[in-house]
Amino acid sequence: MNTHASHITQPAASGAGAHAHLDTSAEHAARLDAADPLRPLRDEFEHPFGEDGRPLTYLCGNSLGLMPRAARALVNEELDDWSRLAVEGHLHSRRPWVDFHEHFRHLGARLVGAQPGEVVMMNSLTVNLHLLMVSFWRPEGKRTKILMERGAFPSDTYAVHSHVHARGLDPAKHVIEIGPRSGEALIREEDILDAIREAGDTLALVMIGGVNYATGQAFGIERITAAAHAVGALAGWDLAHWAGNLPARLHDWNVDFACWCSYKYLNAGPGAVAGCFVHERHGNNIALPRFAGWWGNDPKTRFAMGPEFVARAGADGWQLSNPPIMALAPLLASLQLFDRVGMDALHAKSRAVTGYLRALLAEWAPPGCRIVTPDAPGTHGAQLSIAFERDARARHAELGRRGIVCDFREPNIVRLAPAPLYNGYADARAAAAALCGRP
Ligand SMILES: Cc1ncc(COP(=O)(O)O)c(C=O)c1O
Repeated sequence: MNTHASHITQPAASGAGAHAHLDTSAEHAARLDAADPLRPLRDEFEHPFGEDGRPLTYLCGNSLGLMPRAARALVNEELDDWSRLAVEGHLHSRRPWVDFHEHFRHLGARLVGAQPGEVVMMNSLTVNLHLLMVSFWRPEGKRTKILMERGAFPSDTYAVHSHVHARGLDPAKHVIEIGPRSGEALIREEDILDAIREAGDTLALVMIGGVNYATGQAFGIERITAAAHAVGALAGWDLAHWAGNLPARLHDWNVDFACWCSYKYLNAGPGAVAGCFVHERHGNNIALPRFAGWWGNDPKTRFAMGPEFVARAGADGWQLSNPPIMALAPLLASLQLFDRVGMDALHAKSRAVTGYLRALLAEWAPPGCRIVTPDAPGTHGAQLSIAFERDARARHAELGRRGIVCDFREPNIVRLAPAPLYNGYADARAAAAALCGRP
């Protein structure tokens, strides 16, 4: 598998198919959009405008997704029910609040390839990571180590290190970090697998970001999880950049646990309620240690108000608090859309549009930059991370002046992410043209 960064001047082959005779014209991009069966979904979203009133080209859905139009109506319905019913809304609103999280039982499961009951929407991502680590990192004897990727999103590193500190242990001894080899930009999966085998019975947990936020590199979740299990360790995944971006089969891949945020590809709004997956073999074990709260208690006895916690089976048993209805309503609007389309169809479009973006960048070959994100199927999602040799911030600012919304990550990366629900070929072309100084 090629996991090496491609230089931007390489001829691009991609999931979009070969672009042997790439038509770079704006007319061609418009024709591709017109032929795209998922194109009407674009109108299900609110699109931002610049100060001059002109629509912006939004390629930042890997950071904050656009607002689904249906979100406003759903939030308003909840506000109306609150104003009309007050406390009675817990049981008598149109979507009774006491069971609101149940709306995600099937929607959430289908999104990430889980069984109903393995997924719950709650809290935010880092909180969920902490809650899951309490249950799934339980160092014993010499099996203490956590393996993660170097260059993980800082919150993940803070979470892991703080758990190690909380047990009076030293991250330098108990956390194994796997980074790219010297002179390389990407982590080789074989290096992760070798490190897992080498750690052997000292390894307690593998905890990796499914798609790296900076490079856009996607890891082989199933292979790495199997390697962790082969040495008796567990595998948990941060799917912040995977959920809504790549199809998943978390149940069949035997993943122990996973969590993700919902404000990126999942379009549920700033700080949206996050997701959490616990495989049923763990979820059914209600004796598993955890940090408990009343919403994780068996609903049959929850309101008996007794002092003893009896976990509800499934991921629901990790809930702490009653669900934040106003925050969950946009997530419901968004996941209903995902459910209508399906991740496989979305991913097929994503590969085509991101492949087209890659091909344009290769064709126009702007000097001084290269695509870091790997190209082979299964090694990337929608995002292309572009590293600039110099003046990266200025290049990012210039893209902004040309109406392209994308983001910058230290030290020199500009990330462009066509989100297949609302982006198309013309968006990809506009970004490539802006980056390469083309009309
Ligand atoms: C990979 C990854 N992990 C963790 C986080 C932190 O998420 P939150 O602020 O929702 O806890 C982010 C946020 O962007 C992220 O991209």
